[in-house]
Amino acid sequence: MAVILDGKKMAQTVKQRLQQMIKQQGFTPKLGIILVGDDAASLIYVKNKQKAASEVGIETQLYHFDDQASSETLENLIQTLNADSDVHGILIQLPLPKSFNAAKILSEIDPQKDVDGFHPYNIGLLQYGAQTGLQPATPKGIMKLIKSTGLDLSGKNALVIGRSNIVGKPMAMMLLGADCTVTMAHSKTTDLKALCQNADIIVSATGCAKLIKQDWVKSGAVVIDVGMNRDEQGKLCGVVDFEGVCQKAGFITPVPGGVGPMTIAMLLDNVVEAYLKQHQI
Ligand code: GUN
Repeated sequence: MAVILDGKKMAQTVKQRLQQMIKQQGFTPKLGIILVGDDAASLIYVKNKQKAASEVGIETQLYHFDDQASSETLENLIQTLNADSDVHGILIQLPLPKSFNAAKILSEIDPQKDVDGFHPYNIGLLQYGAQTGLQPATPKGIMKLIKSTGLDLSGKNALVIGRSNIVGKPMAMMLLGADCTVTMAHSKTTDLKALCQNADIIVSATGCAKLIKQDWVKSGAVVIDVGMNRDEQGKLCGVVDFEGVCQKAGFITPVPGGVGPMTIAMLLDNVVEAYLKQHQI
């Protein structure tokens, strides 16, 4: 049976460390959150981020616009937050409604306050292999989960399923930085099963419920599930068929309680990192 990588517990440890640091040093990091529209999932994510931030002592301010808001309104707000030295992090909840040019808007954020790591400057630093930039929370949390296995990652075959800017692409860069041999699969990939069977590490970030079955997975593999789906019974499940795959994998993340809590913890970690850098601590 696979060892379960408990993201909830690891996130709790990270949050306790942040909370203690903030308390001991007596500072208050502040995060501005921009939300446009009423996407149900985004509303829940934002609420969870605010709750977690408040638990560790990070102040949040939510700017919620309806989907008729103009790009200019968002850009003006970003300029104001960039210039406000009391604001240390700026997050734009994605996806933005289709009428917005998300790439352009994200690139208006001061890279030092870009706690999602989505600004081209921070993407570039990650691609260079520099450790100095702010890095996207989901793959950053996944690297922590993978490293917690204690395995030597050098030369391991890592398969990343999904090529999003939020997870797949930065994930591949981080695994490459850890000396893995990285393959990226996506919706046009042929024979995903064979790629999975060859992988020592699988990070699956697609929208397909229970796609990855037991016979797709190498014995002892590390299987990371970034899925958030519902099964036939309406129960929350991932991309991985957990019951089957945990019989064969070496390590596996559950859904819920795996990657999700780590994403939020790493966002908070980034807000504190941004604060410390802005104060040259
Ligand atoms: N939407 C889905 N994941 C994310 C994320 O990590 N950050 C932001 N800002 N929006 C998201």
